[in-house]
Amino acid sequence: MSATMTRSGQTDRESRSSRPPRVAMVGAGQLARMTHQAAIALGVELRVLADSEADPAVTAGAAHLIGSPESLGDLQALAAEADVVTFDHEKIPPEHLSALEADGVLLAPSPAAKLFAQDKHAARRELSARGFPVPPFILAGTRDETERFGDEHGWPLIGKVVRGAYDGRGVFELSDLDAAVRALDEVGPFLLEPRLELRRELAVLVARSVTGEVAAYPAVETVQRDAMCREVLAPADVGHGLAEEARRLALDIATGIAATGIVAIELFETQAGLLVNELALRPHNSGHYTIEGCVTSQFEQHLRAVLGWPLGATDAVAPAVAMVNVVGPDDGSDPAARIEGALSVPGAHVHLYGKQSRPGRKLGHVTVCGDDLESARAAARRAAAALEGSS
Ligand SMILES: Nc1ncnc2c1ncn2[C@@H]1O[C@H](COP(=O)(O)OP(=O)(O)OP(=O)(O)O)[C@@H](O)[C@H]1O
Ligand SMILES: [Mg+2]
Repeated sequence: MSATMTRSGQTDRESRSSRPPRVAMVGAGQLARMTHQAAIALGVELRVLADSEADPAVTAGAAHLIGSPESLGDLQALAAEADVVTFDHEKIPPEHLSALEADGVLLAPSPAAKLFAQDKHAARRELSARGFPVPPFILAGTRDETERFGDEHGWPLIGKVVRGAYDGRGVFELSDLDAAVRALDEVGPFLLEPRLELRRELAVLVARSVTGEVAAYPAVETVQRDAMCREVLAPADVGHGLAEEARRLALDIATGIAATGIVAIELFETQAGLLVNELALRPHNSGHYTIEGCVTSQFEQHLRAVLGWPLGATDAVAPAVAMVNVVGPDDGSDPAARIEGALSVPGAHVHLYGKQSRPGRKLGHVTVCGDDLESARAAARRAAAALEGSS
């Protein structure tokens, strides 16, 4: 630690004003890469903890430390001389976060808030205890518990690993009790819930600053395929009442759990109303559209929030914005080689993450702003299909 560090882990104001603010980010994937772009504009020094020199934020030029989020020593080295530590993923042992916090490191979000994104069961339990609407659930550990839940809610059910799931990896449909018992053998206790009839899936991004200031973005619709987010439509084509209810719910959750930075709240719209699916306490796929589609991108907003700077306006800059993910094609080919096809689509903003192509892997996204969702979506799909080689 430098001599100017106080016990709180924050450098004092005087030394901070004489040099750029320093933000450390655990993880160096596409979220860190796009945060790096925002950091350049704001004059913030971003330093990331990367698995390798090939990570998306590193190849984009972010200052970095090669190490593992599972190593407390590596996390401490990253935190040294940073004003605040934040995250591009969930895969940090909660006990390491508590150790850093006890050391006086400023973490945004705090370990207690981050747990809402790290442990699906703890999140459901806590949100439910605080009166937020969540799907029925149990932590299934035995055949009997599973059978009782199946009798009550009917098969098929949905099982989810409690920790470490993303992009639908770790979400599995269980057709009957035998399948559930096999899953118990394979993965141990898991979160069990009914397979819900979803009218739509919505997401609301909220920024909450370390000062407590909050700002919510408009509710968006997210479209998943194979449990992975593929498209985002902004604003969600729902009535004003439902959009406002979603926004209110998201603000109440972000404030209630004292989240800091960006928090994404994924919601299910069901016949019975809105249910909270899960939270992410970091920039999120549902907010990539904000780069071109809103006054303040989620990445800039995240930096403002973790540094305690004034938050930016969250308004959309166009009547409709569509974002389509670019996913690795089955033949393993690289979308980057087909970029010209996507760039020839008028209005298409292409983002490639510099990741090696693998089937089913998120490799980039395309955003189109327009006057109506239908045409913006069609154009974004055309550009994404050109990149994926499926047009
Ligand atoms: N109970 C359910 N009923 C119906 N569909 C569900 C249910 N739970 C999850 N899904 C579908 O699977 C998707 C992924 O689930 P979830 O968000 O819990 O997993 P994840 O892998 O953590 O997701 P992410 O892609 O956000 O990282 C949801 O967006 C939804 O489409
Ligand atoms: Mg999800």
